Amino acid sequence: MARTFFIGGNFKLNGSKKSIAEIVDRLNKAALDVNSEVVICPPAAYLDSTVQAVTSKQVSVGAQNVYVKASGAYTGENSVDQIKDLGAKWTILGHSERREYFKETDQFVAEKTKFALDNGVSVILCIGESLEEKKAGQTLAVVEKQLTAVIAEVKDWTNVVIAYEPIWAIGTGLAATAEDAEEIHASIRKFLASKLGDKVAEEIRILYGGSANGANVASFKDKKNVDGFLVGGASLKPEFVDIINSRK
Ligand code: G3H
Repeated sequence: MARTFFIGGNFKLNGSKKSIAEIVDRLNKAALDVNSEVVICPPAAYLDSTVQAVTSKQVSVGAQNVYVKASGAYTGENSVDQIKDLGAKWTILGHSERREYFKETDQFVAEKTKFALDNGVSVILCIGESLEEKKAGQTLAVVEKQLTAVIAEVKDWTNVVIAYEPIWAIGTGLAATAEDAEEIHASIRKFLASKLGDKVAEEIRILYGGSANGANVASFKDKKNVDGFLVGGASLKPEFVDIINSRK
């Protein structure tokens, strides 16, 4: 079955009211490939204004993180109920920057994934290995361990998109080759089939993330296990439209 091409834009902790309004305006005015599903994830402070500004039907808005509680004394956290209240439909979870800087464990990411899904928020679940792990030949062991924690918590994967993001490629300008990404995505899909069955594995979208940009995404075009991109730096630039339209 054909999986809908999916492009996530992770703005990370970048942008201002003005610059994010300009990005959204550009997306609203662009002729986006009608076969692409787009989710933009601005910083939490701009979720409301971003949701209000989006007019394109194929563009949804997501958070970059949510907590495992919907309300209460949890200073500084994002609530699934509150982001839904604003009109956001997605959240990124397990991004390597959260795993590294905020010490999020596989188990915590798994619990947050379950909580978000149980509360009606779809999840872009990030997995990926460090340079040391890649050099040690541990890429698949690492991503399988990250996935195994989530598999133990989540039974229904309908509203999950996986983003394979090798940490060494994030923000470095050194994207994985399309061939390498395809090989790893195919292995991830095979692993998911062994744990969750062929149907789930066949339907789930697996995105590539890590220095994806307007110039290099064309090389992924014929890779049947690359179902889109999770884009950081380039999602802030006009070339984001080229990435969205790269399967046209
Ligand atoms: O979530 C996005 C990834 O971290 C990729 O970021 O495109 O700036 O390398 P990047």
